[in-house]
Amino acid sequence: MEKITAVILAAGEGKRMISKLPKVLHTVCGRSLIDHVLSSVRPLCREVIVVIGHGAEQVRQAMGDTVHFAIQEEQLGTGHAVLQAAPLLPADGSVFVLCGDTPLLTADIMGRLLDVHKAHGAAATVLTAQVPNAAGYGRMVREPGGTLVKIVEEKDATDKEREIREINTGTYVFSAAALHETLRSLSSDNAQGEYYLTDCVELLICKGLTVASYCLDDYRVALGVNDRSQLSEASKLLRDRINHSHMEKGVTFTDPETTYVDINVSIGRDTVLLPNTIILGKTVIGEDCQIGPCSELTDCTVGNGVLIRYSTVNGSILEDGVSVGPFANIRPETILRQGVKIGDFVEIKKSDIGPGSKVPHLSYVGDAVIGSCVNMGAGTIVVNYDGRKKHVTKIEDGAFIGCNSNLVAPLRVGEGAFIAAGSTLTKDVPAGALSMSRSPQVTKEKMAGRFIDTQRNRES
Ligand code: UD1
Ligand code: CA
Repeated sequence: MEKITAVILAAGEGKRMISKLPKVLHTVCGRSLIDHVLSSVRPLCREVIVVIGHGAEQVRQAMGDTVHFAIQEEQLGTGHAVLQAAPLLPADGSVFVLCGDTPLLTADIMGRLLDVHKAHGAAATVLTAQVPNAAGYGRMVREPGGTLVKIVEEKDATDKEREIREINTGTYVFSAAALHETLRSLSSDNAQGEYYLTDCVELLICKGLTVASYCLDDYRVALGVNDRSQLSEASKLLRDRINHSHMEKGVTFTDPETTYVDINVSIGRDTVLLPNTIILGKTVIGEDCQIGPCSELTDCTVGNGVLIRYSTVNGSILEDGVSVGPFANIRPETILRQGVKIGDFVEIKKSDIGPGSKVPHLSYVGDAVIGSCVNMGAGTIVVNYDGRKKHVTKIEDGAFIGCNSNLVAPLRVGEGAFIAAGSTLTKDVPAGALSMSRSPQVTKEKMAGRFIDTQRNRES
């Protein structure tokens, strides 16, 4: 394969974000802006160089050693930014140049841009778009016949040039040799006193070299994020793209407008997502599930035929046929094995619950290892924390925990044991035992009248 290098410009401050975080680290559908840009070039490139400046350390840390970095100490323009990467660029081959804030570009589009570049034997090829409102963008200036003359920045443009609707998206392919040569000749003699990368186009054309262009069918793909409104616009466009790609693979969205699915999520066919459902991180969902309404899953692995209603599930594994909710909170490191039923107002934390077991109502279960076919009665509380340390509770297969019991950890309830309702257990219960720890019931005949007026009670 030909040597292709990408340069991603990310040294700018992103002032309009009004943020402590460097602009390119803001996320859209679960991935930072710069990682979106990176994934649009990664499949086509051998090397990627990111030009950093503002917030350089944060960007460097976020990206790790997956790319090379060039530092631009002072932001003297896009041409100057690429110049900082020049020592890392090969002498020949092709070079993509992109901005770090255009999250909607895809590898497909970058591939087509490269094809156009090759087909024209061009020194440079510019990705352009016809936009309804070109304010703020560089305009593509052409001769009446359509031949490209130059790119003019809005601040340097004449009134006539400002009427042009074809804009420079800020995405290019250059022949490395042509780029090296023209970068050195850039000047900052313009309205902003900056070294414009866009001036390379005119310089190349003046040398008699070919500059081609590829105009996007859908201009929205070129959307650059400069402020929080554009961030939400990008999220909306990408969300739409993600949701439709799942629909194409057989997933039902009852209301795509209110369903938020991160880019790294995978969902099996015939699964139904109900309104107000949010699926985040690296969640994997199997087939024939029903998720929602009003549920949030983060970094979960969910099997087939799972039902989750009005609940949050985080960092957990749910095997086939599990049912959760309504109103359950499943916290990290939980495993709900095949057919487990978690009902309403139940919190589960870092617990392994065996096949067919049930925690149907009003319970807290933390740091527990529960076997198969265990029934946890309504209101059962696992007392896992003694104020200093968390302790483990083990409940073996087939045990029955009566309603409103407290299981004070560390504790083991043996196989098939039966715990009477209302017990507070502090000692292990052997297999097959009946255990009861509650005050005995005292009943005194005819004494109720001392406490209540029976007649009045009946009337009220
Ligand atoms: C640039 C283009 C313009 C195009 C627009 C598309 C130039 C001169 N103009 O304008 O034709 O329509 O993008 O969005 O290139 N950056 C640096 N160092 C710098 C300056 C910028 O790294 O010194 C980075 C920014 O972080 C950003 C990108 O380059 O990711 C674009 O910079 P920006 O200032 O937004 O360029 P525009 O003025 O929008
Ligand atoms: Ca910009």
